[in-house]
Amino acid sequence: MRQRHLSLITSSQWQDYELLDSGNLRKFERFGPHRFIRPEPQAMWHPRTEAKEWQADGIFIPGKLGKNDQEEGEGEGGGWQLSEQLPPSWQLRYQSLRFLARPTPFRHLGFFPEQAAHWDWCANAVKAFTAYHKRPPRILNLFAYSGLASLHAADAGAEVTHLDASKKAVAQAFENRDMCAMQHAPIRFITDDATSFVDRELRRKKRYEGIILDPPKYGRGPKGEFWRIENHLTPLLQKCRQLLSKDALLMVLTIYAIRASSLAAHYALADLFDGMGGSLESGELALEESPLAHEEPKFAEGGAPKRLISQANFARWQSDLAMRGV
Ligand SMILES: C[S@@+](CC[C@H](N)C(=O)[O-])C[C@H]1O[C@@H](n2cnc3c(N)ncnc32)[C@H](O)[C@@H]1O
Repeated sequence: MRQRHLSLITSSQWQDYELLDSGNLRKFERFGPHRFIRPEPQAMWHPRTEAKEWQADGIFIPGKLGKNDQEEGEGEGGGWQLSEQLPPSWQLRYQSLRFLARPTPFRHLGFFPEQAAHWDWCANAVKAFTAYHKRPPRILNLFAYSGLASLHAADAGAEVTHLDASKKAVAQAFENRDMCAMQHAPIRFITDDATSFVDRELRRKKRYEGIILDPPKYGRGPKGEFWRIENHLTPLLQKCRQLLSKDALLMVLTIYAIRASSLAAHYALADLFDGMGGSLESGELALEESPLAHEEPKFAEGGAPKRLISQANFARWQSDLAMRGV
């Protein structure tokens, strides 16, 4: 198996999302026609533009830090200050996807733009699989939230099982599916606990060619099943490995908000795919600042450098077939 550590990956395909600037522990972003300022504890540098340019339709004001928050470096509390003109939700696009953005109490807007780098990587693998096997690969998206990875994979030709513990998250994924006019796409939506569902699929001898995992630090299944990444991720990964078919295509793991380097995710997947061939890559999913208005070329001479902000660690394995592409 080929292995590559410490890659920094970004998506260059967004039209409706931009990281306009960052600094002073905040980031300034555009989501379609609306601009937002959110806390960004990693932005320990100076903004490229002046404060008067940071005109936003929404600002997230962090809450007071609790004892644990201080240890983790950021608080969970706080809330949005939103302009009265801002609608409760609005439509954005990514390639052929259409979906809703809306400010949530968790500082984000209902999706994670840095994940687009994974969506494109999965789509290439799905197309290569379909061209070779003349059938769609089965992809399981655990912790699938508002569904953009599921919709993107289905649009590329996969048969998708979309699972999340939260009914509300699954309802948002339905909303996004309808917005993409993908009501007839082969996507099965399931509200369940990730580990319970994987156990059940193993008992039923079901198999998948690809698994996407984006687990939170803490969570609850619909019957109150407790999820804590430090305790439950390794056993779940081992079960996911058993769930892969003999034509295994991919596994992608993203980890937000725990104190670990991407090497932890790397070696966890390296154990699983030992002796399988294919390639394993790990590193950080990052957002990259867009060029400033007066800087046309990507690397404008003398222009302000475009900084990257790491948002999550990842590790991803793909088979030799997926790497060959279509
Ligand atoms: C970080 S979000 C995933 C983001 C998503 N992959 C995306 O890119 O939009 C974590 C999701 O895990 C779900 N979750 C939490 N505990 C769970 C559990 N035990 N089983 C399944 N899903 C769970 C939450 O409801 C939430 O939607």
